[in-house]
Amino acid sequence: MDRGWLALLPASQDGRRWSLLQVESSIDCRLRCVMCPWHEARQSAAPRPHMLPEVWEAIVPHLPQARSIDFSGGGEPLLQPDIARWVAQAHAAGCETGLLSNGLLLDDGAARRLIEAGIDWIAVSLDGATRETYEAIRVGSDFARVCENVERLARLRSAGRPRTMINFVLMPENAHEMEGIVRLAAEVGADKIHFKQCDVIRGEHGRGRGLFAQGTDRALKKLEKRLARARRLARKLGLKSEAAAFLPRERAVCGQDPRSSLFIRHDGVVSACIGLAYGGPSVFFGQDVHMPEAHYGRLPGDDLLAIWEAAPCRERRERFAERARAYESKILGGFVGTAPSRYADTLDAAAAAMPPAPAGCSVCHYLHGV
Ligand SMILES: C[S@@+](CC[C@H](N)C(=O)[O-])C[C@H]1O[C@@H](n2cnc3c(N)ncnc32)[C@H](O)[C@@H]1O
Ligand code: SF4
Ligand code: SF4
Repeated sequence: MDRGWLALLPASQDGRRWSLLQVESSIDCRLRCVMCPWHEARQSAAPRPHMLPEVWEAIVPHLPQARSIDFSGGGEPLLQPDIARWVAQAHAAGCETGLLSNGLLLDDGAARRLIEAGIDWIAVSLDGATRETYEAIRVGSDFARVCENVERLARLRSAGRPRTMINFVLMPENAHEMEGIVRLAAEVGADKIHFKQCDVIRGEHGRGRGLFAQGTDRALKKLEKRLARARRLARKLGLKSEAAAFLPRERAVCGQDPRSSLFIRHDGVVSACIGLAYGGPSVFFGQDVHMPEAHYGRLPGDDLLAIWEAAPCRERRERFAERARAYESKILGGFVGTAPSRYADTLDAAAAAMPPAPAGCSVCHYLHGV
């Protein structure tokens, strides 16, 4: 989740070592969403696409050191047969728990099991406000069933737990439905809508679908206005909203914040994030690039804490910490006594003052707030 300028500060961890462990409970999926970057990774992972119990068991002793566990990755978490039990274990260890799902398997039984396990948040991806748009993007899904599942979840929960969120990946195919999705999210009883950019591109998946720094300024301005209207509507309907930027700007640290988080792939590979766990041919602001793999180690053979303390992981987080310090000192000095019209110059100077981003991160849209 993008914390904007707050990302300069490491997330609060309540005395725990990690703000987030992202646990890819499964890479398996039955849908074929047009923009999903992980189709090839899924094919290579077959026939063992779910996280194995021994990998999870290697994480369990470390749960008390993590503030938050996100069970999502490049597949569908509800296909993991042990998901409710794992949520319950993380909850019992005092972690905040949640997952991002396509919503198709979130039937009455699954919703009740997750609520009983103590899950804190569930986000459901709905990339269209109408059946036509949604099913053209989310190939193999069923619009009516997913809406019904989200609505039931909102009815079943008590005292606002779990928090529910709709994720909407903005693309040329659905940008006209920004206000529609806000209305739908309110109708199905969600708490929040998250407008995300189609920013992860692997090979052909996602290519040409990002709506940032693309087209004319006028086209972007129009989209920005439409998004602002949709977010005003959300406020009016009592929904929270969050949105990625259309005009990218380099940040010191990405929303994932590798200074205090780890990504654990379904097969036990430990990395800073999903992008660096899989690597592969990618696109960075229109240029074909290669996202390298950067693996820190692998569970259950290696110990998670030893992986965290070893040089590859330490060096990456130290680089981000240096970047944050350099950026912060320019920003603090640069804004004092500066006219608001010159703030953009200060931000540019702060970006120029930072040491370069680590390998892979230098070709990642997340570092640019999109
Ligand atoms: C890979 S999915 C995994 C979770 C689940 N299967 C789902 O669809 O919600 C995680 C999130 O990434 C979003 N997503 C898919 N393709 C994307 C892309 N090319 N760029 C950015 N986000 C993308 C999905 O819409 C979803 O909200
Ligand atoms: S449901 Fe999620 S994991 Fe499955 S294809 Fe769609 S975006 Fe990818
Ligand atoms: S590759 Fe991107 S998401 Fe991953 S750690 Fe680097 S900047 Fe963050």
